[in-house]
Amino acid sequence: MIINNQEDVTKAVLAEIARAPDPRFREVMSAFVRHLHDFAREVRLTEDEFQKAVGYVVALGQRTTDSHNEAVLMSGSLGFSTLICLLNNGNNGQTETTANLLGPFWRPESPRMPNGASLVRSPTPGTPMFVDAWVKDRNGRPVVGADVDIWHSSTEGYYENQDPMQADMNLRGKFTTDAEGHIGFRSIKPAGYPIPVDGPVGDLLRAQRRANMRPAHLHFLIHKPGFKTHVSQVYTDDDPNLETDSQFGVTRRLIGHYVLHENEPAPAPDVKGPWYSLEYTFEIEPGVAKLPRPPITDKARGERPTIERLKRA
Ligand SMILES: [Fe+2]
Repeated sequence: MIINNQEDVTKAVLAEIARAPDPRFREVMSAFVRHLHDFAREVRLTEDEFQKAVGYVVALGQRTTDSHNEAVLMSGSLGFSTLICLLNNGNNGQTETTANLLGPFWRPESPRMPNGASLVRSPTPGTPMFVDAWVKDRNGRPVVGADVDIWHSSTEGYYENQDPMQADMNLRGKFTTDAEGHIGFRSIKPAGYPIPVDGPVGDLLRAQRRANMRPAHLHFLIHKPGFKTHVSQVYTDDDPNLETDSQFGVTRRLIGHYVLHENEPAPAPDVKGPWYSLEYTFEIEPGVAKLPRPPITDKARGERPTIERLKRA
């Protein structure tokens, strides 16, 4: 099609997309092009701004390696990942859900462990924590024999695959729900952590005077045939960054009550000082038990990275 004016460009592109045999491809790409073109019209995007936008997209790719995924970070920083999660869980966005973001650090091959085992595999400072979690279906019935993957950051705010100082698979484990749909494990209470800001995501946050912290949380991935794979994070209720999560992950339902016990005997005799407990129940939905693709596949090497902390202004 020969273009006569700016309106014609959109028509020309849509006409080409209409040739695609896959109806879902036609639906998604037509809407994408319509919104993209209308977006440029609405803000009257200048040529300089267009160049800058292309630079952002290029930098997302250039910054991404086998041990870092800048695209996932950008999607989270724009709230897009949480939007997609909430649209696709809780009966397709109609009800509250315990689903949440996967984040970049999940590793599918974490070691299987018996209920009650500890996730700590190399000396890791921190307050001991005992967690009991239940997996239920929509009718409140226990889901038996579900695999529950758990991973979390250290007290210093690093996942083991970011931090050469931690043992392989430290603060990770895979548990199986019992007849009550229950798993239990012990670990140390995780800390919040800054997301890397040496790429385009950092530029985005600085432009808005935003902080780059994530509130402390435990990650869960629940897998059982017959159910939609349930990805979740349970946030600590005492974290100062709950309201300003750089990834917009904190939903009301996912704020866990981490109880501090200062003068009570712990469930394990080796714990003498204060300890935390957490009880939490996940509700999973019928669907396809498909595992996600891990956003990164390699571990960071060399020195432990220092990640700049941006202050919210
Ligand atoms: Fe995380």
